[in-house]
Amino acid sequence: MQDSPDDHVNVPDDHVVVLFGATGDLARRKVLPGLFRLARSGLMPRDYRIVGSAPAGAALSDEEFRSRAKEAVTAFCPEPPGDADWRAFEERLSFGAADPGAPEPLLAAVGNAERALGGSPRRLCHLAVPPAAFPSMVELLGGTGLAGDRTRVIVEKPFGTDLASARALNATVHAVFDESQVFRIDHFLGKESVDNILALRFANGLFEPVWNRRHISHVQIDVPETLGIEGRASFFEQTGTFRDMIVTHLFQVLGIVAMEPPAALDARSLRDEKVEVFSAMRPVDPARVVRGQYEGYHAEPGVDPESGTETFAALAVTVDNPRWAGVPFFLRSGKSLGQRRQTVTLHFKRPPSHMFPASAHGGRPSGGNVLVIDFDDPGWIAARFLAKEPGPAMRLSPARMTFRYADSFQQANELEGYERLILDAMLGDQSLFTRADGIERLWEVSAPLLDAPPPVEPYAPGSWGPPSADELIAPYAWYLPDGDD
Ligand code: BG6
Repeated sequence: MQDSPDDHVNVPDDHVVVLFGATGDLARRKVLPGLFRLARSGLMPRDYRIVGSAPAGAALSDEEFRSRAKEAVTAFCPEPPGDADWRAFEERLSFGAADPGAPEPLLAAVGNAERALGGSPRRLCHLAVPPAAFPSMVELLGGTGLAGDRTRVIVEKPFGTDLASARALNATVHAVFDESQVFRIDHFLGKESVDNILALRFANGLFEPVWNRRHISHVQIDVPETLGIEGRASFFEQTGTFRDMIVTHLFQVLGIVAMEPPAALDARSLRDEKVEVFSAMRPVDPARVVRGQYEGYHAEPGVDPESGTETFAALAVTVDNPRWAGVPFFLRSGKSLGQRRQTVTLHFKRPPSHMFPASAHGGRPSGGNVLVIDFDDPGWIAARFLAKEPGPAMRLSPARMTFRYADSFQQANELEGYERLILDAMLGDQSLFTRADGIERLWEVSAPLLDAPPPVEPYAPGSWGPPSADELIAPYAWYLPDGDD
């Protein structure tokens, strides 16, 4: 994060990036295209090397790794790589297999890369591997000496599956790395429009004074998805929507929406304030949670026919502090729903004045004031309010003012979540990464639900989840899909 909006972007020190899981889906979709786009934008270090790694059973030659990387970059970068850009990038790629107890090919590849750079380049080890492999990879880094002072590590999510496993994983990581070297990634925090919530709140006298229980009746954080589990049964069966989306992503967004103004925009202040929010969160009450499962989930390849895993979760949580006491936060996410959206909506109380008779609303539902933050990149923000319909009578109609990133700023400057976060990790800026205490607290507040989850309720694909989710939010209503005119 920059100290001031005028600050130029820093260039990272020379780096060797070691990508574990280099043959996997995440590397293909996000990490390799992200590294290439950073290189093309001139944001990579002055000089760098990227060493791909995978178990010996999936080992590649340097040439094979380069051609896989090219396929990934071509498939997942919006603009195809030009010849010169690609050549400059691919000559920096090499491959070294590693298994616990057999790290030699990786050590040789990293040694070659470091010698090619000269001096003492930094290392960034990105663990783009399934969660079960995190501990053995961290131990491998510790045991081989790859985890020295100049090494940083990016750990993918989900970070644990409950409090005990998160604590155990933190202990494993801290046995090898100092917390200052650890970058737990949550790509929602790398989204431009999530970062912009800080600007919206704290750079504007317009919003911050009303951002509290005096003016806000409730908050919704809503991330419906149209996709199903997309062949990820083995991951999803172990995880479910509550762990995959709510704990991992939506609680983090809640932390940013609800935090007190940080003393400064540095990693420590920001993360302290976010953790304060998590500390003030009351434990999740299972009676205030709806778990759903889309019809047909059991027929997905790899899913247990008896599975009780939720593909939908809606819940109400409270943040018990002076700013938010009594203001429910409603969170919802699910697969195979009616729309893909990523929104935060703040719903304002009606003004106390009764000068407008109910008939002025023209029989329409309240149409109250809502601040809508759509954080699906490129994102937009809208304020919904009531305006007088033209004509002789005082009739009110919903109106909106909208700011769209796509229309407003140079899109060329935009970094996708992963790109931004990989760049920040190379710069050593932990602002947008989760901290050990914050993660552990989130699992702690989740414990009552994980211990006694309500049964899953079926819902039709393409719908908005089980009807109980509407009862959960009553007397309010979900902003999506109907509020979004
Ligand atoms: C991932 C989850 O972290 O985030 C997926 O594992 C989910 O289940 C995805 O679909 C949503 O992120 P986005 O922003 O890429 O749509």
